[in-house]
Amino acid sequence: MSAIVLRFLAAALVYLVLGILLGIAGLLGFPVATPVHVHLALVGFVCGVIIATMYQQVPTLSGTELHSRRAAEASFWLFNPGLLLFSITYPSSAAAASIGALLMLLGFYLFTYNILATLAERRGENYAFKFYAASSVLLSLGATLGFLIALNPVLYSYRASHAHLALVGGVTLIIFGAMSWMLPMLVVKDIYNRRWLDYTFYGTLLAAGIMVLGFSGFRQLVLPGGLILLAAALLFTYDMVKSYTAPSRVPVKSEPVEARFFLAALGYLLMVLILGILGTLYPGRDLTLLHAHLAALGFVVQTAIGGLYHVIPTLTWTRILPRERDRAPASFKELFSASRSRWIFYIFNAGVLLLASGMYLGAGAASLLGSALLLASVTAFAVEMLGIIRRALP
Ligand code: HEM
Repeated sequence: MSAIVLRFLAAALVYLVLGILLGIAGLLGFPVATPVHVHLALVGFVCGVIIATMYQQVPTLSGTELHSRRAAEASFWLFNPGLLLFSITYPSSAAAASIGALLMLLGFYLFTYNILATLAERRGENYAFKFYAASSVLLSLGATLGFLIALNPVLYSYRASHAHLALVGGVTLIIFGAMSWMLPMLVVKDIYNRRWLDYTFYGTLLAAGIMVLGFSGFRQLVLPGGLILLAAALLFTYDMVKSYTAPSRVPVKSEPVEARFFLAALGYLLMVLILGILGTLYPGRDLTLLHAHLAALGFVVQTAIGGLYHVIPTLTWTRILPRERDRAPASFKELFSASRSRWIFYIFNAGVLLLASGMYLGAGAASLLGSALLLASVTAFAVEMLGIIRRALP
């Protein structure tokens, strides 16, 4: 099973670099279709990472096998060619783009089916299951709306609903669900307040529903939806910070690489939500680009990078161990450079802040410098992770 997970992750890393390269091309004035840049980064990278990690984590947490290995394989072969076809042809060739969108959509449906069926066969209970189930369903619903928009331009005005359904409902929910156990686990601590995670779950779900309605014509609902999401995110962040800083049961020597990215990502999330609320209150000040880039890069991509620093080395290590025997490293942590990860963290975050503020202030040079830093950091990350994956795949 881990082979298909690693293949999904390898493809996702390539999409991340491609998505950023297209963004830079757009900044330099080349005719780049924004949806292509957006979907390579958010669907190719972010959803690729989500699908792969769910294929890995849901069976592990539920003490069972993934329901269907063949459906997982098929989802890979629908999702990736679909995304590439959509990216190459949207919006110039409606027919080809619709076929690409349909293949992607079928890939999402197979993924959701597989996750729900695996959860139905679970051998135990875990509070996180509802995050995984709801996120997989909402990603497919968001993709369905995207498919309908690609098919019928009359629905174009629903693209903010589509984006928020997928990003708040699908992506943010799974980030909360996975981070809630990964962050305390990294420092060998318990979750500070488990009940709060239930409130976070229902608050985020409610906020996603209200915001989608708001962006679908009931504009007055966007602000209450945003406020509910902010409350859920504040509660979650407080819970995570308290979990992370609680006295440890065992001596933990160093700050884990993954945690640095997770905690910074939560800081961006709060910034993004405040900006979203300000943007709703003062529509004259166009905060959309700032809001969108801090959300996509600072919160979502940063969390995914932090998660991958854990998922890729642990998965590959279990494959390398039996094969390399004496040559295999003593721990999965020896598969990557912790000092390089620190540089990647600083350069990535300098890049995000420079790019987003440059875009807001209309300072082209700052945006370009920011995007160059981003490209350098994600390329260094992707090359290192792809090298580890190559060592583990036949
Ligand atoms: C089958 C899958 C999907 C299809 C066919 C699809 C299609 C589309 C289309 C046609 C648009 C409008 C593009 C335009 O402005 O011309 C769009 C916008 C967008 N999509 Fe998707 N999408 C899919 C999945 C996703 C997912 C899973 C996410 C997020 C994780 C996402 C995030 C976005 C964002 C952020 C926008 C821009 C919204 C805006 O301009 O306000 N899409 N999508």
